[in-house]
Amino acid sequence: MNGRLLVFGGGGFVGGNLCTLALRDGWEVHVADSTVRDALPGAAWHRIDITDGAAVAALIGGVKPTAVVDLAAVADIDRAERERELARAVNVDAARSIAAAARAAGASFVYFSSDAVFAGTAERYVEEDATGPVNWYGRTKADGERLVREAHPGAAIVRISLVLGFPVTDGNSFIAALAKKLAAGTVVPCPVDEIRTPIDVLTLSAAVLELCRTRFEGILHLGSTDNVDRFTLTQRAATLMGFDASLVTAQKPGAAGTAAATAQPARAARHRRGVISVEKARRLLSTPMLDWETSLGRAIGSRLGNGR
Ligand SMILES: NC(=O)c1ccc[n+]([C@@H]2O[C@H](COP(=O)([O-])OP(=O)(O)OC[C@H]3O[C@@H](n4cnc5c(N)ncnc54)[C@H](OP(=O)(O)O)[C@@H]3O)[C@@H](O)[C@H]2O)c1
Repeated sequence: MNGRLLVFGGGGFVGGNLCTLALRDGWEVHVADSTVRDALPGAAWHRIDITDGAAVAALIGGVKPTAVVDLAAVADIDRAERERELARAVNVDAARSIAAAARAAGASFVYFSSDAVFAGTAERYVEEDATGPVNWYGRTKADGERLVREAHPGAAIVRISLVLGFPVTDGNSFIAALAKKLAAGTVVPCPVDEIRTPIDVLTLSAAVLELCRTRFEGILHLGSTDNVDRFTLTQRAATLMGFDASLVTAQKPGAAGTAAATAQPARAARHRRGVISVEKARRLLSTPMLDWETSLGRAIGSRLGNGR
């Protein structure tokens, strides 16, 4: 057995995939989430609100995990902008209490952060670069990183840009939402000025399990070895899924809702260039980082589940 893994937010998009791979790899898997979902046979489910610090400490004390991963988040950027207190409570304060309890239990800890901690104005970002978020979500992740490292100096902080794939259970998947819209014949406008460093959820899950096994400490970027704008990525995804790619239309810089039009009230500001360097991951991990087209093909061709 690899060890005992406790995944907060394990019922979400990344979590369902991570837990499925962990079970296959021989981990004893515990899922902690706001809802118990009818999936992941072989995993133990624990219903929890992670903003309840006493409940978090009691769960970690009871399960006695060797590795803890925190995926529970207000991960929708626009929702985080609207519901600022909740986003801070979940993404910052609860992450800090999970980190402290993991440290007290002698467990390793992985916190999930985002390229949204950066301003998005530089050509690319390495792990040591200064943060400068342009929206509330990015601020909560930057603060979460800092407080997690104070609470658990041996923690791993994983920064990702955009995750590709389908949920096993449920969750916040851009590809699953796209498939639904295209199946209904809906036109999908996509910004040409938002550049991202995507990663498929299977590569991401394998890399995170490697970090748990090796008790990696410090900040690590995980993503593609190259980068792509959201319009090109979405068109290619539509084609690979067998949909009419002309339904995906180019939203020019400055159009409503794009990175250049940050004053749109309905959509939070976006960082323009979410380009994170994955050179450190390529040096340190045995899990290979892929180029974006290979990663997209893997996300669509190797789905683990049928969740929404
Ligand atoms: N997906 C991406 O492209 C992407 C990109 C960059 C960073 N990230 C980060 O990666 C992590 C995983 O993202 P994801 O896409 O898997 O998110 P997700 O699908 O929204 O999953 C998050 C899970 O956490 C649960 N949760 C939220 N608040 C909770 C609370 N107070 N107590 C207990 N459980 C709670 C959610 O349950 P409910 O549904 O009931 O709220 C959900 O099951 C997040 O930290 C996210 O910020 C994701």
